[in-house]
Amino acid sequence: MPESAAAPRVALVTGGSRGIGAAIAHRLAADGLTVHLVCRSAQDAGRRVVKEIEAAGGHAALHRADVGDEAEVEALVDGVTKQEGALHVLVNNAAVIDDQLLAVTRTDRWEKVLRSNLTGPFLTSRAVLPVMLDQGWGRIINISSNSARTPGPGQSAYAASKGGIESLTRALAVEVGRKGIRVNCVAPGKVRTEMTAAVADRLGADGDGTRWGLPEDISGLVAFLARDEADYIQGQTFTVDGGRMVMRSGSRRSR
Ligand SMILES: NC(=O)c1ccc[n+]([C@@H]2O[C@H](COP(=O)([O-])OP(=O)(O)OC[C@H]3O[C@@H](n4cnc5c(N)ncnc54)[C@H](OP(=O)(O)O)[C@@H]3O)[C@@H](O)[C@H]2O)c1
Repeated sequence: MPESAAAPRVALVTGGSRGIGAAIAHRLAADGLTVHLVCRSAQDAGRRVVKEIEAAGGHAALHRADVGDEAEVEALVDGVTKQEGALHVLVNNAAVIDDQLLAVTRTDRWEKVLRSNLTGPFLTSRAVLPVMLDQGWGRIINISSNSARTPGPGQSAYAASKGGIESLTRALAVEVGRKGIRVNCVAPGKVRTEMTAAVADRLGADGDGTRWGLPEDISGLVAFLARDEADYIQGQTFTVDGGRMVMRSGSRRSR
């Protein structure tokens, strides 16, 4: 199934209505893929992204679904594959953050984060596998976070969910690698989006001197991992943080 085949490839981008997901949707559409965006509530934002993609000559559609809801995910993937007759790329980008110290974290708030951020990618991946296995070609790209490895206080649930998605990436890669499916993960650092707007305004530039990233700083690598050229990359997590992680470890060593 070469990239140059007549029918455009089809991508499903969860959380594609804004922020990093919207940038990924734009980038994949610019690469010629038909992009299906999913979000849970912000339909106006999602419709805007679809309009922008179409105005630029691309193809996109918006769906409402909660990635943590099994029935909604099954119906979503079923609908897209019936409509398109194929599904080549899944980007598990949707996530929520709900920081609070573990000692006072209620179970329902812990579970809400894990449901969107980890159970969601499990459900979507499981739902797309039959069609990808049939095609003998697929790309699953998960979005993690630096917080998986360097969490701040209050990030137990979020960091656990992101550590989980990195392990899920490796585990699934082992299962499907021989079937033409590549599963990789991108771990952004701090990126200015709705999720982080309040923190970004409060903190400004960080003490380590690295700038806040833009959603477009992340989308290029995701688009690359979706391509044929990325065939020899499997089960990996790539940090994209403007050097923040390495600068921090350097400054610790020099103290
Ligand atoms: N921004 C950063 O600094 C940063 C850093 C590291 C990693 N990340 C990761 O990058 C990804 C995107 O982050 P972002 O900053 O772009 O977030 P964002 O601006 O808050 O956007 C999140 C998107 O996910 C959707 N979403 C959330 N929960 C959902 C659910 N259960 N079902 C369906 N859609 C859902 C939201 O739509 P609705 O509101 O309509 O549900 C929205 O489209 C996330 O995985 C995040 O953890 C971000």
